[in-house]
Amino acid sequence: MMKISEPKVRRGSIKDIEEITSIENRAFGDHAYDYPALRYMLGIANSITAVTTINGRVVGYATVFFRKNSRISHLESIAVDPDYQGSGIGRILIEEVEKISKEKNCTKIVLETFEKNVSALKLYEHSGYSIKEVVPDYYHVPYDGSKNAIRFEKILH
Ligand SMILES: CC(C)(COP(=O)(O)OP(=O)(O)OC[C@H]1O[C@@H](n2cnc3c(N)ncnc32)[C@H](O)[C@@H]1OP(=O)(O)O)[C@@H](O)C(=O)NCCC(=O)NCCS
Repeated sequence: MMKISEPKVRRGSIKDIEEITSIENRAFGDHAYDYPALRYMLGIANSITAVTTINGRVVGYATVFFRKNSRISHLESIAVDPDYQGSGIGRILIEEVEKISKEKNCTKIVLETFEKNVSALKLYEHSGYSIKEVVPDYYHVPYDGSKNAIRFEKILH
């Protein structure tokens, strides 16, 4: 049996797209970003993706966006392979995107999540994020109306 190593974190790239797509589909199901959206996120210049690996295999990713002349970064997406959820990978990714944001001189990080996504709400609350506002109808779900989001923020020290 292969020994399970400690999770490692590194910058992701377009080379990781197959593994990221698979995690995205398994973590989000019907609400997953599709391949072109993920390719865009990995390819554009104003975004950085962090990936966590175990034994060299990608088990989670988080993508943060930056805007010109803004010191606020935006956590665009985070997902952990369902087989590894609840073991601290999400926490590692959050810490990494915060570190990356600080390196880019950002003073604040902002994100949105579905108001009923319990594991995400827990992750952000436990990571020191505070609720900024409820955003009505933030998510448009084909054939299923729209859903509210909760916007969180964290001041980066
Ligand atoms: C949300 C998600 C990224 C969390 O990643 P994770 O690796 O499972 O989270 P962690 O193991 O690092 O847990 C972080 C904290 O959240 C809590 N938590 C995580 N999942 C939880 C769950 N299902 N129920 C209750 N608490 C949970 C943990 O207790 C932990 O708190 P602690 O460190 O204070 O004990 C992951 O569940 C996921 O990919 N979900 C599907 C995709 C998604 O919803 N992404 C977010 C969209 S905004």
